[in-house]
Amino acid sequence: MSLIAQDSKANITARFARHVSSGKVDFFQQFGVDVIFGKREGVYLWDLSGQRLIDCHCNGGVFNLGHRHPRVIAALKRALDELDIGNHHFVSEHRARLAERLTALCPGDLKRVIFGVSGGEAIDTAIKLARGYTGRGKIISARGGYHGHTGFALATGDEFYSQPFAPLPSGFAQIPFGDLDALDAALDDDTAAVIFETIPATMGIVVPPDDFFAGVRARCDRAGALMIIDEVQTGLGRCGDIWGINTYGVIPDILVTAKGLAGGIYPITATIYRDPLDEFWRQYPFIHVSTFGGSEVGCYAALEVLNILEEPEFLPHVRQMAELFRAGFARLQQNHPLLVEVRQRGLMMGLKLASPMLGPLMTLAGLKMGLLTIYANYDQSVNQMLPPLTIQADEVAQVLDILERMLRWLEQTTHVEK
Ligand SMILES: Cc1ncc(COP(=O)(O)O)c(C=O)c1O
Repeated sequence: MSLIAQDSKANITARFARHVSSGKVDFFQQFGVDVIFGKREGVYLWDLSGQRLIDCHCNGGVFNLGHRHPRVIAALKRALDELDIGNHHFVSEHRARLAERLTALCPGDLKRVIFGVSGGEAIDTAIKLARGYTGRGKIISARGGYHGHTGFALATGDEFYSQPFAPLPSGFAQIPFGDLDALDAALDDDTAAVIFETIPATMGIVVPPDDFFAGVRARCDRAGALMIIDEVQTGLGRCGDIWGINTYGVIPDILVTAKGLAGGIYPITATIYRDPLDEFWRQYPFIHVSTFGGSEVGCYAALEVLNILEEPEFLPHVRQMAELFRAGFARLQQNHPLLVEVRQRGLMMGLKLASPMLGPLMTLAGLKMGLLTIYANYDQSVNQMLPPLTIQADEVAQVLDILERMLRWLEQTTHVEK
């Protein structure tokens, strides 16, 4: 018997409201959204009603390889024949192997890894390392950036999500993203690190100019502060290179990767850091632990993800699909004045609409018409478009077709003249 749809949507929703989150159920019901994902495969997701959607949200890059990539599933099944999560206090053959392979994909001397379970945890680890190594306290992040909802990660982010949990850890300062003058003003002798997403997703897929990160790097070097780059969404091929920051030609001191690292089949994340920073952990090898971080079975799933990413045709394919989207978006823009701006680096894409109420409407239109795209939380005029990197040309054409219909529906609903 299938694990999917063992009960009616109404019963599942009632049980979810009773035992998991009544607030979420109320939120969705208010907008008439009753979607519950069941079957999933490749670029597609199916609602329990049978409706098929193309996943252009992918949980922010978790499903970079599409849903349930057969090779990643096979690797995990194989690992389960012999391994379990392992004991995190001891030397591990499997964590060593994955760390070696992962760092071989990193530029410069980013050669060391601490594994975790969630992106927030991996960001917390990066901030711990920056403070421990530099002996300084201040952490500078972008206003409207997002690095997760755990301890230090929460403190880097928006007040709406952190204030109910005050008092927060001290020493966190925020500046406008992309503003090097503001960075100059904020950096001081007590700055441990500057942390940015390469392309802030929750802010609305804001693609910084090509020379921005070189400016950040130079300023961090002058101030003796570390540069932490959050590649949780932009990494693992999303921007047409292994790391989004590679497309800016800059090497950070610490790089965080998460979501897609084990293909959406197993939770595993990594905080990757430069050799000299290891001086800190050498003094305190047992000061940071994560029982499930770098689970040995998860390492196997992640190794298979890296095998796929390293295939010679993988990144060129991402760039080809990105060009198809670029051309398609340009056509959509010609016919639909509501689509005011396209933001794109590889398959990290955002569609900016004429007003903030249109993003959520676009999400609703997608749910009706078969496309999962979610508006950016901090700029609701932007819809995030992160399709699986394995998407094929005919599927790109389907996405563009559905987008055309969504935009037409939006124009009719909001009475915008062509
Ligand atoms: C850019 C970025 N960093 C960090 C995180 C936190 O990851 P997690 O939800 O796995 O803790 C997220 C999650 O959406 C993210 O988008």
